[in-house]
Amino acid sequence: MTDNRFPKGFIWGTATASFQIEGATREDGRGESIWDRFCATPGKIVTGETGDPACDSYHRYPEDIALMKAMSLNGYRFSIAWPRVIPDGDGKVCQAGLDYYDRVVDALLRENIEPFVTLYHWDLPQALQDRGGWGNRATVDAYARYVDIVVSRLGDRVKYWMTHNEPWCVSILSHELGEHAPGLKDRKLALQVAHHLLVSHGLAVPIIRQHCKDAQVGIVLNFSPAYPATDSLADQILTRQHHARFNLWFLDPIAGRGYPQDAWEGYGADVPSVQPDDMQIIAAPIDFLGVNFYSRAVCHDPAGGEGSRVLNVRSKTEATDRDWEIYPQALYDLLIWIHNGYNFRDIYITENGASYNDVISPDGKVHDPKRIDYLKRHLAIALRAIEAGVPLRGYFCWSLMDNFEWAMGTSSRFGLAYTDFTTQKRILKDSGLWFGEVARANALIDHP
Ligand code: FCB
Repeated sequence: MTDNRFPKGFIWGTATASFQIEGATREDGRGESIWDRFCATPGKIVTGETGDPACDSYHRYPEDIALMKAMSLNGYRFSIAWPRVIPDGDGKVCQAGLDYYDRVVDALLRENIEPFVTLYHWDLPQALQDRGGWGNRATVDAYARYVDIVVSRLGDRVKYWMTHNEPWCVSILSHELGEHAPGLKDRKLALQVAHHLLVSHGLAVPIIRQHCKDAQVGIVLNFSPAYPATDSLADQILTRQHHARFNLWFLDPIAGRGYPQDAWEGYGADVPSVQPDDMQIIAAPIDFLGVNFYSRAVCHDPAGGEGSRVLNVRSKTEATDRDWEIYPQALYDLLIWIHNGYNFRDIYITENGASYNDVISPDGKVHDPKRIDYLKRHLAIALRAIEAGVPLRGYFCWSLMDNFEWAMGTSSRFGLAYTDFTTQKRILKDSGLWFGEVARANALIDHP
């Protein structure tokens, strides 16, 4: 593949998430989510914003799809908001919520854009959180019922399903580090949440297959490839620990290997309680793995003891405006490691992208050469991985358009399209125009 071509049928898409784009948080019977509550808590969102209006996609999804069309994309990864479908989490179904996703799916299919649906991208109904959220095993059953309802409705048209987005973020980032909703700081709880998420994933797999002929079922994990800052033994130990806690803790159970033993022992009394069949449920065979990749972790442990550990010491200074190091080689290492070490039939890059402080130029355009450079280098790496045998079937850029970037509010722009949050006007950036050229050519072409 010296001509930089991607395999025939390669999926070129963008990714979004319900809470980050929809707005309309109180419309048509939608219930409160943990993110509505988190945003309403002073100090949690750097810009003080809420999920309203975000990109107002609840009303403007035809404009979103027009952007995809302009880029000739053939896939779209988006998520369903559980509180739109079942406002209190486990009670009455809200038909208007399901109707919305019905319209989105039909509109995508009319344009020959394959829907890739994420069933949970972080917006848990607040009513379930009030009863303990993902820390409460009952939420696993509520999720299974929610999945049953959604797939029964959309499974005749949607084939690609992802049970969860980034369980590490839902558990550790949100329940141990407190940075995302519900904003708790309790490691033991976080590990129980992680376990419940994994069990809920495993339970959902056969439910999806039951309602959807030819379903392609997967889960999306975020990876943090770990590298030691120096050759010191302490750095190497820290690197192994980070890898086990961040990557293996989620990937190994799904692949049927259980929790990594070293990490389990290291967590001591904080390990989750596991019921007899859980590990088997979690290991339900899946069709694809979704890989989210942005950056790597560089691990340094100067004194070689707990408490003195530093992650993300940068060996280089190249970074996006979000200050995430740019290190495409880690994507290659990651894909090769997954391919050689595990047995996933298909792999998708379900998120990859870069945040820059874009502005509209006097010529009315948005010139973002750095984003093009970031994407180009990561796509080049993806091609090399394909050449090396990795069954990579598609690439979803994060994100279609600038949106509500969680705790960063609208201050962190990841879009291929610029969103003017005052007028809701969307403008394809230079990167979006370029990405469209790549999708059309199904090949990595140079910047026009
Ligand atoms: C990922 C999330 C996604 C987006 C990107 C930047 O962790 O899945 O919603 O916020 O980061």
